[in-house]
Amino acid sequence: MNIILCDNYDDASQKAYKLLLEELKRNSSAVLGLPTGSTPLGLYKFMTDGFSEGDFSYEDIVTFNLDEYAGLSRDDPNSYFKFMMDNLFRALDVKIENINIPSGLGELEENCRIYDKKLEEAGGIDIQILGIGRNGHIGFNEPGTPFELTTHIAELSTHTREDNSRFFTSLDEVPTKAVTLGVKSIMNARKIILIAVGNEKADALYNTIHGPVTLDCPSSILQMHPDITLFLDGAAGSRL
Ligand code: F6R
Repeated sequence: MNIILCDNYDDASQKAYKLLLEELKRNSSAVLGLPTGSTPLGLYKFMTDGFSEGDFSYEDIVTFNLDEYAGLSRDDPNSYFKFMMDNLFRALDVKIENINIPSGLGELEENCRIYDKKLEEAGGIDIQILGIGRNGHIGFNEPGTPFELTTHIAELSTHTREDNSRFFTSLDEVPTKAVTLGVKSIMNARKIILIAVGNEKADALYNTIHGPVTLDCPSSILQMHPDITLFLDGAAGSRL
């Protein structure tokens, strides 16, 4: 694991962008795995600003998002589809047909199989960007989720629903399920870039890096990945 301690969130986002850009310039048709949440917003700003300044064209890039809430339509204000359009895709030249986000509506099991098939046809993920939950979840793979799962339906933990309730008007409105890439799909990515900031992530980061590899902390499996770089601020890295 390559661990980079950064001055602050902006520095972590900028350094992650620099590494991502180097990789994209090496492979301009890369398959990019993307998260939602607060953490990637800094990186997404560097990506969109960089695009405006001519850093890189995303016209041949293919994207696969990690997850989507069950029960929310694409235009729901809290859907991850809308989040990605608003915070990244609309400001880039990525082709709409190259954007893949699991559907949280309809027959969810079938949606999972369709998503796996699309990812396989695309040749798998070249560069996976990750955030991390304070319980060590990656994607919506909560503690206890078998490492060998690919795309599946996840039950969200109370922790995660509470953490994400800041985007909703009440906790009751936070969906209880999501469609998510599995740990296996994430581990199959050729390169992983993880960003984590803030005190509340410090225990998760300690367990990810120094803990045993255990289902109790899904992100601990990342120790086994051959090419992962973690960009942390001082607070997230405070227990290392
Ligand atoms: C989101 C995702 C989650 C988040 C995690 C951290 O697509 O897969 O694993 O990365 O919940 O969320 P934030 O960044 O909001 O702290």
